[in-house]
Order: sequence, then C-alpha cells, then structure tokens
Amino acid sequence: MKVLVVGGGGREHALCWKLARSPQVEQVYVAPGNAGCAAVAERVPIQPSQVDALTDFVHGRGIDLTVVGPELPLCLGLADRLRKLGHKVFGPGKEAARLEGSKSFAKSLARRHNIPGPDFKVFTGESAAIAYLERIKDDEFPLVVKADGLAAGKGVSVCSTRGDAMRHVRDCRKRFGEAGQTIVIEEFVRGTEVSVQVVTDGETLLVLDPAQDYKAAHDGGLGPNTGGMGAYSPRPVDSEVMGRIEEKILVPTVHALAREGQEFRGVLYAGLMLTQTGPRLLEYNVRFGDPETQPTLLRLRSDLAELMLRTCEGTLGEAVVEWDPRPAVTVILASEGYPGSYAKGREITGIEAAEALGDVVVFHAGTERRAGKLVTHGGRVLCVTALGDTVSAARERAYEAARCIHFEGMVYRTDIAAEA
Ligand code: GLY
Repeated sequence: MKVLVVGGGGREHALCWKLARSPQVEQVYVAPGNAGCAAVAERVPIQPSQVDALTDFVHGRGIDLTVVGPELPLCLGLADRLRKLGHKVFGPGKEAARLEGSKSFAKSLARRHNIPGPDFKVFTGESAAIAYLERIKDDEFPLVVKADGLAAGKGVSVCSTRGDAMRHVRDCRKRFGEAGQTIVIEEFVRGTEVSVQVVTDGETLLVLDPAQDYKAAHDGGLGPNTGGMGAYSPRPVDSEVMGRIEEKILVPTVHALAREGQEFRGVLYAGLMLTQTGPRLLEYNVRFGDPETQPTLLRLRSDLAELMLRTCEGTLGEAVVEWDPRPAVTVILASEGYPGSYAKGREITGIEAAEALGDVVVFHAGTERRAGKLVTHGGRVLCVTALGDTVSAARERAYEAARCIHFEGMVYRTDIAAEA
C-alpha cells in the first residue's frame, strides 16, 4: 500500500517512521516532510495548505491512505475532498474539524451535551468583549482569553488582571485577523493538565495511553507558550478518572458529531484539566499532538497502518492496540529564541551517537539538508525520544542522548518528566 503523510514536523517524522515499519506499507510519501523523514519516506514539495495540489497528488499517484498531520488542511476540507473522490483519509472533514478550528463551536457543542468544561462567553468583535471586561468584578480574574480560530497555538492567554485581558482582546484582531474576530472568554480552572488522544471511526473509540506535554519554553513552566518542549507517555491517570474522561467527554463528543452527520474518522485529542471536581475539557485538537505523538508511537507495538485503515473503513471495533509497557520520554532540542525569532542553517552533529545508546530515536522537526550537511530549519529542531524501564530511566536516557547532539544555539528544558 502507498501512504501519504501530510506535514513536516516531529509528529510527521514519527508517523512516517512508524508507518514505514508496517508490513502492509510499500511506500511512504510525505508532503513536505523534513530531512529526517527522507530516511523512511519520499518527500513531495507540497505544503499542507495546498489542498488542490495534495488532492491531485493523491488521485494521480493512486495513494491508498492519506494521513493528515496538522489541523490546517483538515480545516480547509482536504479530507472531504479526498473522500468525495473515493480515497481513504485518516482525519476528519471540515465540519468536524471545527472542534479545533473554532473554539466557540467546540465549547457550544460541549455545553449542549453536558460535557464538563470551564464556563465561557463568546463575543463577536472586540467592543463587546471589552464592555464585558469593564463590568465584571476584580475577583473574577484570572480569566482566559482565546481567539476563536486557528492561531498556531498563540491565541490563548491566561490574564490575571483586567488590563492584561483587555490588551489580549485588542491584540486578537491585530495578530490573528479573521481568527481573532470572535473571542472566547473563559473561566480559569486550576488542576493538572493531561492530553488524551483517541482514535475513532465515529463509532468505536480506542483511547491511547495518556501523555503529558510541556508547553512553556523554560524550566519550571516559565516563559512563553510554545508548541511543546517535551512529553512523556504513559502519564499516570487513575483508571476511574480515565473512565470518566471516556464516558463524560470523549464518547458524547464523537457520538454527537455522528448524530449531526459529521462522523469523525481520525484522532481526537482532548486537552484536559484534572480538577478536584473531576476532569474538565479545555480544548480539542482534531489531529495527533506534537510532541505527544513521538513517545506514543515509540511505544505502540500494533501496526499503525492497520489501525488507520480500520479507522477509514469503520471496523475499528475489531482492532487491538498493544503497547510496549516501558514509558517513553521526548525532549525537544530547539533553536535559541524560539518561540520568537531564531537563526536557521546551523549544522547539526551527534545524532548517530545519540541513537547508538540504544532505545533512542531522534525524530526530526525543523531540519533540512544543505550542501550535504544536516542543518537547523525551524524553532523546534529535534525530538530526542527514549524508552526506559521507568519514566526516570527513560528521561535519563533521553537527556544522555540530547547531550550527544550539538548545534549552535541549541536549547532545551531540563525538567521534562522530572516530576513523574
Ligand atoms: N502539544 C500540543 C498540541 O499538539 O497542540
């Protein structure tokens, strides 16, 4: 079978790596991929936003399965286009992708189906949101201000004062354009965060082992929010709590969409807060998390291509998911300055030595090959992922591997999975 993976980050390298190990897969293509993907897949120079070109590629090459990594092509309707032409796609259609593409859509759906989440209000336009912020009491802060649409992970701000909240509301339209036209103001909930990903064909839900990601740029949760500076899996969650997450949050969401004619086929990612009164839904993503996918796929023993095909064909009920019982930890090696501006083109060395330690896979994120050399090409550069008998053994191995690697301006958090 021929598979196309859409996207070019660490998540997509992990997807290509795992799919290439399937006995059912003859050829993996990746659009556009990165230097690491090239070891296991043929790179195709098409960007994830180029939905027409991707559709032509899949149709023209007779691709048997398309796996969409990032949210943008899903929100632009790539999966609908391909399904209409009879192709198998792992990823939801445009309407269901609004779970990620519109925060107000996701929150309203959650409210209609009694899915526990923070209280919220939706405002169309800046002035209505400002008027609301002017009339609430000081003790209602902190609050969370969110741009409604896709904002590359930068549209959410926890605001501890009225001034902060007003500034972020005013910023929304300026920074995010159309995506910041509608604003969601949400109750701030306290607790511990966890990411739960579920593979679903719209009927059956296969809940993957939970993961923990680390969004802040610096140790101790300090500094600006990033796409994620590390992750580990499985992140322990009490089985009774996992049961509630499935029963009260995931199942009602997937089945509500199906009843509304928007069958969700792909992976649904729930960003959750575990609070004293139970799990609450903070946000949905309609694709695999990055970097949560990297430790998750290193542990997955089952054939990913088969799980994905079953998802497309609606036979997930017959699938079995097997895991390596050992935990995995991913440490992101980033370019100094990320998530702000950073240099590119810095030579990378030491990956072979890192992988030679054993039980280590270095997934590439922002990398390219220039004049025969491997160089940096993004903010998140490499995802050093290691297995160990315990979380602490996996973490030690991941950091030992990270220390083998070098590029000028390389930075990483030193506390990934430290509390585990
Ligand atoms: N790690 C968070 C995300 O993938 O959105």
